[in-house]
Amino acid sequence: MTGQKIDGLEVAKSVKERIRMAVSELKSDGVQPCLATVLVGENPSSQTYVNNKQKACADVGITTKDHKLDDSFSQEEMNSLINSLNKDDTVHGILVQLPLPSQLDEFATTSIISPLKDVDCLTPSNIGLLSTGRAVLKPCTPSGIMELFDYYNIDLQGKDVIIINRSNLVGKPLYHLLVKENATVTICHSKTKNLKEHCQRADVIITAIGNREKFVLTEDMIKDGAVVIDVGIGRQEGKLVGDVDYENVIKKASYVSPVPGGVGPMTVAMLLKNTVTVASFSKGIGPKT
Ligand SMILES: NC(=O)c1ccc[n+]([C@@H]2O[C@H](COP(=O)([O-])OP(=O)(O)OC[C@H]3O[C@@H](n4cnc5c(N)ncnc54)[C@H](OP(=O)(O)O)[C@@H]3O)[C@@H](O)[C@H]2O)c1
Repeated sequence: MTGQKIDGLEVAKSVKERIRMAVSELKSDGVQPCLATVLVGENPSSQTYVNNKQKACADVGITTKDHKLDDSFSQEEMNSLINSLNKDDTVHGILVQLPLPSQLDEFATTSIISPLKDVDCLTPSNIGLLSTGRAVLKPCTPSGIMELFDYYNIDLQGKDVIIINRSNLVGKPLYHLLVKENATVTICHSKTKNLKEHCQRADVIITAIGNREKFVLTEDMIKDGAVVIDVGIGRQEGKLVGDVDYENVIKKASYVSPVPGGVGPMTVAMLLKNTVTVASFSKGIGPKT
C-alpha cells in the first residue's frame, strides 16, 4: 500500500484564500496590512526567499516595505532601523531574513523587534509565550507543519513523534506545539545515538537537516504507516532535495510531505497569516484568520 502525498501547495492555497478575505476585511476597517522585510548582503538563497515572501504578500493584498542593505551594515545601523520600524505605524510586521553576516548578532537583532510586530516569533517574550502554550504569534515553519497535520486530520494525541533538528527556528518551537497537542516528543540532533532506532519506533518523523551527505531517511528506517514530514532543503545536481528518499519511503509510510511542495509553501502562508494577525492588533481588532 502506498501512502498519501502531503500537498503543501494545496494546503497553502486554502490558507491563502482565508488570508485574502481577512485582508479585505481589514482594509474595509481602514487597515492596510504591511510587512517590512530586511535583507542584509547578497546571499542568493536569502534573496530568493525574500522575493518569494514579497510576491506572496502582494498576491493576498499585503503591502511590503523592502529594506535591502549592504553587506557591511553595522549592528548600530541595524538597531536604529529596527527601532524606526517598531515606531512606524504604517508597518505592522517586521521580517529580518536570517542568516545575517557575521558582524551582526542574530539574537541581539531579533530581540529588539517589537513583540507585536514579530511575525517570525523570534523575540524572547513570544518564545516564552510559545513555551507556556499561550502564543498568539507562532513561528512560521513549525506552525505550517501543524497546519498540515490539521488539514489531513492526522491525530497527534499519544503519538511518538521525533524531530530531527534542535534549532531555534524549527525543532525547539515545534516541540512546544506538538506537546500542546498531547504528542510524546523526542528531539534528535547530530550527537544523538542510535538515530535509526529512534526513527523506527516513531509514529511521526519530522526531519530538518538539509544535507544528504550527512543524512537521508530511507524506508528501512521507518515503521509501517509512519507519517513523515520533510523540512530539509538541500541541492543535488542543481535540483532542490529534502532529507527523505521520497519514492521509496512513501511505499511504506501513511503520509509523506515532498520537497519541493511540502513544508516550504506552508512557511510562506504562515508568514502571511502572522502579518494579518499583527495588522489586526494595530487597531485592537482580534485575529481575523
Ligand atoms: N521548508 C522550509 O520552509 C524550511 C524552513 C526552515 C528551515 N528549512 C530547512 O531545514 C533545514 C534545517 O534548518 P535549520 O535552520 O534548523 O538548520 P540548522 O540550524 O543547521 O539545523 C540542522 C539540525 O540538523 C541536525 N543535524 C545535522 N546533521 C545531523 C545528523 N547527521 N544526524 C542528526 N541530526 C543532524 C543538527 O544537529 P546539531 O544541533 O547537533 O548541530 C541541527 O539540529 C535546512 O535545510 C533548512 O533549509 C526549511
